[in-house]
Amino acid sequence: MKTNTDPRSPSLSEEELNENLELWALLEVIYQKYGYDFRNYTYSSIKRQLKRRMEAEGIQTISHMQHLALNQKELFHKLVSDFYINVTELFRDPSFFKNIRSHVIPILKSYPSIKIWHAGCGTGQEVYSMAILLMEEGLFEKAHIYATDVNTEALNKARQGIYSIELIKEDTHNYFESGGTESLSKYCTASYGNVIMKSEIKKNISFFDHNLVTDNSFGEMNLIFCRNVLIYFNSELKQRSVRVFWDSLCHKGFFCAGANERLLGEENEALFDVFDDKNKIYRKKEAA
Ligand SMILES: C[S@@+](CC[C@H](N)C(=O)[O-])C[C@H]1O[C@@H](n2cnc3c(N)ncnc32)[C@H](O)[C@@H]1O
Repeated sequence: MKTNTDPRSPSLSEEELNENLELWALLEVIYQKYGYDFRNYTYSSIKRQLKRRMEAEGIQTISHMQHLALNQKELFHKLVSDFYINVTELFRDPSFFKNIRSHVIPILKSYPSIKIWHAGCGTGQEVYSMAILLMEEGLFEKAHIYATDVNTEALNKARQGIYSIELIKEDTHNYFESGGTESLSKYCTASYGNVIMKSEIKKNISFFDHNLVTDNSFGEMNLIFCRNVLIYFNSELKQRSVRVFWDSLCHKGFFCAGANERLLGEENEALFDVFDDKNKIYRKKEAA
């Protein structure tokens, strides 16, 4: 039995050990019955989501949840949607986008064409943020953005590009902090309490399914974003994903991780250079 939190670790209390074993069984059952593989996600985040769902549904034990998830498809789908944490916003971590604008964009400007991959794009705000930035820097026409996620529900929302007007108001602050000087309303139209991203901004973006647990590299990307995704993976799955990204980048391509994610462990020092440590921007080097 291989888990990211070794259930037999001597530091665990008996209660924690039992909980980990129940969780291990739940994830195995979900995989065997439905094919969704969360077995290499970090137990800490899976447990947090699971406990929240159990509380909302009035379920007392993980084994009871296992029984219900096996027999009630609707509950199972809620659980899957909880495990794929879709929290995001436009220009999330504005200082990150500010640094992309001031340090990465000038390098991209010298390329004849630009390919960008957002892996784990969620409901799309990160993708539209980058599209807006490219437009403002005069690079949108020569760029193509590939936006992928494993969660088809999130991906459909990303494709539609429809967001609550209230959320956009909150994100406007991020946009200005990231160095934006226009009004976000330039890029979307208001409709019944929502905003819809304009078709001009969608035209160079392709959305499709890609699962970092099973799928492989594609394309020769100049820039890859995988932000706030790796943090939910154990070291084995994180390492698999990092390899996929390395394989998908062109020579000296950029890789961007989330604010609380670290790419460089010893095993990755041969694969990437640090470009901006604070903002978690890395650059591919040819592996020895
Ligand atoms: C917290 S969101 C991050 C969204 C965006 N990148 C950001 O930073 O705001 C995490 C996303 O990772 C996706 N995800 C989780 N597991 C994945 C996997 N195995 N393959 C691809 N995407 C995955 C989830 O569906 C979710 O949309």
